[in-house]
Amino acid sequence: MYRTKTCGELRIENLNQEVVLAGWVQKARKMGGMIFIDLRDRYGITQLVFNQEINSELCERAAKIGREWVIQVKGKVMERSNKNANIPTGDIEIITGELTILNVSEVPPFTIEEDTDGGDDLRMKYRYLDLRRTNIRANLELRHRMAFETRSYLDKLRFLEVETPVLIGSTPEGARDFLVPSRMNPGEFYALPQSPQTLKQLLMVSGFDRYFQIVKCFRDEDLRADRQPEFTQIDCEMSFVEQEDILNTFEGLTKHLFRTIKGVDIPDFPRISYADAMKLYGSDKPDTRFDMKFVEIKDLTTRKNFVVFDSAGYVAAICAESCASYTRKQLDELTDFVKRPQIGAKGLVYVRYEADGSLRSSVDKFYSQDDLKAWADRCKAKPGDLILVLCGETEKTQKQLSELRLEMGSRLGLRDKNKFNCLWVVDFPLLEKDEELGRFFAKHHPFTGPKPEDIPLLDSNPGAVRANAYDMVINGVEIGGGSIRIYNSELQKKMFTILGFTEEKAQAQFGFLMNAFKFGAPPHGGIAFGLDRFVSIFAGLDSIRDCIAFPKNNSGRDVMLDAPTAVDQEQLDELNLQVRP
Ligand code: AMO
Repeated sequence: MYRTKTCGELRIENLNQEVVLAGWVQKARKMGGMIFIDLRDRYGITQLVFNQEINSELCERAAKIGREWVIQVKGKVMERSNKNANIPTGDIEIITGELTILNVSEVPPFTIEEDTDGGDDLRMKYRYLDLRRTNIRANLELRHRMAFETRSYLDKLRFLEVETPVLIGSTPEGARDFLVPSRMNPGEFYALPQSPQTLKQLLMVSGFDRYFQIVKCFRDEDLRADRQPEFTQIDCEMSFVEQEDILNTFEGLTKHLFRTIKGVDIPDFPRISYADAMKLYGSDKPDTRFDMKFVEIKDLTTRKNFVVFDSAGYVAAICAESCASYTRKQLDELTDFVKRPQIGAKGLVYVRYEADGSLRSSVDKFYSQDDLKAWADRCKAKPGDLILVLCGETEKTQKQLSELRLEMGSRLGLRDKNKFNCLWVVDFPLLEKDEELGRFFAKHHPFTGPKPEDIPLLDSNPGAVRANAYDMVINGVEIGGGSIRIYNSELQKKMFTILGFTEEKAQAQFGFLMNAFKFGAPPHGGIAFGLDRFVSIFAGLDSIRDCIAFPKNNSGRDVMLDAPTAVDQEQLDELNLQVRP
């Protein structure tokens, strides 16, 4: 037997027991005639002691052991004189009697401890070593638990997990597809699914009624902290349901995960319309851990000869509590922040509401104390607060002010990772117009159903049609999204026409779905959660990479496997592919 116990389970109750442990050497140190080794496995760390006086031959062998060697020891559990309160096994140590070296290790390129000295690139290259670190391993354990609890919850509700194919046809709506050439069908390509969207809808036509799948999805898009080219969805679909049924079922799943895994009871999720989310937070995924809602003040600013505000379509403020004491330098930092190219504001106007009740602003030349008092009143500002104002074209300015609001939230410590604010954003617009291309795109995807009461607008004012679509947002992150689907092939056809598909193109790409809808499609709808984002929120991570075993870097590379790579000409020939030099 390689081991009788793990490195994480021995306690004071186990005193005097003979045990066999196996694991990796995290650290070895010599003190006088003693050698101490921290032995690590998946479950924890246990201190081993080798004593020169008791067994000098053993001690000599132990002295040669290096970091990350794999060893097996037999010994007796004893109470430690120098207890370590930081680890669960810190009350005991093993007085080692036998030592077997199972494998040696080269010196690892970085220290395998919680606070490692390894930079990002090095850790990615040696990801299998990085995964030995307790914190990264804990993220994967959490991920397992979340997937497991999801399966258990959905199984109880009679959802069936059904696998859908990974080699499917390309549908260039949405993000870019990853393509796979077909050897047997020269010149033709499979695509990897961006999501199993159409397949889960077909399963509804088949009568499966309640489907889910924890499934890999692939999107060839630019990467960010919360985006990977391959990621995992908890993908779900239900038949004979309305929006309300979906929201309740998956609010239930989310509460179940919080309760069983984090021990947190989340109250019923507030719901906010897309229009209100944009108006109050400038974002369709508002971080509601803090207030600081937008206040529109355009009407209070006009006709005072301040051209910047007069010529702007939209002027809005946020009120930062107790920040009137911000120094010139801090205000300059905020101005630089909003002027960064990624944000793109032209400038920032501020009003300090001083403790003595006076108002001092960067636009005092144009506005009287009474004018500024009217702004402050509308913002419900108190003496001691700071009002920050941006102006410009409505949508752009809302986005900029949203960034400023988040920045202020971070500066004021209002974005606590241990606080969880969940909400639904509902009533998304069905369509989004690309002004440059002069055509509409589906805001969610082309199968999303319009609100029945808005259907007449499809002909007269498509941009105003609202969808039965919803997103679940936690702490400012879009965790999941879905919709009630179109299940009538005529309405689906009309949707494709609005999206600029010719009859032939719609048939070529989605004929299978429209045909299926002719054979008795039930009313249906669903949702998909980003599992990676869900786990990251639970673990308080800044990037989803840290909860993925083998992630890609920001250029979409796996630096450990060194993928993607060039391939042999032979392979290309077989696939009928030519690579341009
Ligand atoms: P959507 O495109 O909104 O919907 O995706 C659902 C959820 O998947 C996560 N997500 C990602 N996570 C990591 N990296 C990415 N590149 C990435 N892209 C998306 C997000 C998102 O909320 N078929 C529909 C769902 C439906 O209508 O049922 C869909 O895929 O958390």
